[in-house]
Amino acid sequence: MSWHATALTLFPEMFPGTLGHSLAGRALREGLWRLDTLQIRDFATDRHRSVDDTPCGGGAGMVMRPDVVDAACAAALAEGPARPLIYLTPRGRLLDQALVRELAAGPGLVLVCGRYEGLDQRVIEARGLREVSVGDFVLSGGEPAALVLLDACVRLLQGVMGGAESATEESFAEAAAPLLEYPHYTRPVEWQGRRVPEVLLSGHHAAVARWRREQAEAATRERRPDLWARRGGPHGRLVETQD
Ligand code: ADE
Repeated sequence: MSWHATALTLFPEMFPGTLGHSLAGRALREGLWRLDTLQIRDFATDRHRSVDDTPCGGGAGMVMRPDVVDAACAAALAEGPARPLIYLTPRGRLLDQALVRELAAGPGLVLVCGRYEGLDQRVIEARGLREVSVGDFVLSGGEPAALVLLDACVRLLQGVMGGAESATEESFAEAAAPLLEYPHYTRPVEWQGRRVPEVLLSGHHAAVARWRREQAEAATRERRPDLWARRGGPHGRLVETQD
């Protein structure tokens, strides 16, 4: 049984989207993972096939009905072994590589993509939906967020990336507080008056490794002081964090 994702959405035509191309697309065609969509509207029960209604208490926008979303979840779960249910929402816990690793290691995912103002809270609680955000910004719907989450998981599946990536699998410590990547260069050695740093042309592997490490540390310190603080300083001595 390959890793199995089911997206519950009002816009199934948005899938596989970017995941139909490049490495994820090839892996999908080769059966290394499987992607289904369920049209949430197919689970509406009234004449108008309505999936949403006005918010109780008033206010702007529409809220997705709990009964309709619940029926769609039930249909997705009826297929195969139990999979975690993820609801993509800016209210969720921020996606990071630790969560990606955890989800990629499981049997797959059921992804609930909301539109409008979001889901009725009761179906989130009743189904135990795990709420996940892809960043502190608001998208027009959960579909692009679901594609981001799937992309991050699929590239970790056995056989998707080939050997190249597995070699760079980080230690536990690196995973808890990763460094940003060092900058990359290729030929030509000189372009528009800018030269590739000499050390990268030296053939001196230890010096290259040292330079890359320094560059990664400098970038992390300057751009992501939050990550840098979690490392507890330049020697990567990790500090315990509360989050
Ligand atoms: N839906 C809308 N915005 C989102 C976000 N930032 N993350 C996940 N799902 C979303």
